[in-house]
Amino acid sequence: METKIVKITDPRDTKITEMGEIIRNGGLVSFPTETVYGLGANAFDEKAVLSVFVAKNRPADNPLIVHLADISELETVARDIPDAAYKLFREFSPGPLTIILKKKDTVPDVVSAGLDTVAVRIPSHPIAQALIRAAGVPIAAPSSNLSGRPSPTRAEHVIEDMKGRIPAIIDGGACSVGVESTVIELTTGTVNILRPGGITKSDLGAVLENVTVDRHVTEMVTDGETPKSPGMKYKHYAPDAEVTVLVGDTKTTAAEIKQLLNGEKGAVCGVMCYDGFAFDCETVLYMGEDNKTYAERLFDALRQCDALGVKKVFAQFSEDENYGLAVRNRLFKAAAGRVIIL
Ligand code: TXA
Ligand code: MG
Repeated sequence: METKIVKITDPRDTKITEMGEIIRNGGLVSFPTETVYGLGANAFDEKAVLSVFVAKNRPADNPLIVHLADISELETVARDIPDAAYKLFREFSPGPLTIILKKKDTVPDVVSAGLDTVAVRIPSHPIAQALIRAAGVPIAAPSSNLSGRPSPTRAEHVIEDMKGRIPAIIDGGACSVGVESTVIELTTGTVNILRPGGITKSDLGAVLENVTVDRHVTEMVTDGETPKSPGMKYKHYAPDAEVTVLVGDTKTTAAEIKQLLNGEKGAVCGVMCYDGFAFDCETVLYMGEDNKTYAERLFDALRQCDALGVKKVFAQFSEDENYGLAVRNRLFKAAAGRVIIL
């Protein structure tokens, strides 16, 4: 399939109308959001949504997020919406927050992978906003990577994974948050974080009391367990390179990485670290001064390691409950258990 790649920086660009039409008519369009690039389909079109699963090789039991332009559209896809959802959407939307709600029958079962709930998000990126409005329908969209690969935060990443597999890609530049939206479920009296992201635990805590982090955000899902969100059980974000995460204060982890590099003479090694450190190896990728910039650069860094032929990556990481939780969640999955706590 020929993939049209269109550069759009202005949401008023008339090419948005054409992209919206592709979606409305059952085609797929990859588009930028403030978190990562999405692979969009008309959420009301069962066939179109099925083709999303095919294009990205996604397991059929992993549901998609439905993207709306405005809070006023919530009732077109969800029912029995609790006050807490309105309260949180009013505070954080448009933005990187996804809430699990009860699904209306208007949304085909393929979107929710058979669950009776639907994940809803109102993205803030101007191109995403313009695209949803131009399509005139809610857009079901997972991240626009091949299943198992790091999520795309630049159009080049999408081209790498999706060229030849979908009709169109909108190149709208780099995504600013860099990790996917925060996914929450609302149980009576609590907000439970199923996937940490751009809206942090303390952001949520400022609006509603009792914010909890689901056990499977930090613990592996073991055989026989059914996690709250199907995505939790998949090993995502894996680059080809072997990733080892070193957790602790930055001085200690930097010293340990130097030791480990000494023992790796001959292998092509890379380091992901905070600013201000130097290492003797082929590739040093700086993740900025804190976990906010770490989140923004993380997926790009993992893809760069592969592009540069790095075989072993040592990632320096200091924990915190906000952006740190989002970085930890992705980094630990990329490391598939190779975590050294110092
Ligand atoms: O920032 C984002 O959320 C990006 C952009 C494109 O909006 N999208 C994204 O989609 O990350 P995806 O498909 O890669 O991740 C969606 C996550 C998965 O872990 C999935 O299991 C979970 O949301 N999810 C979707 N619907 C759900 C539901 N009804 N109940 C529980 N989890 C659900
Ligand atoms: Mg994804």
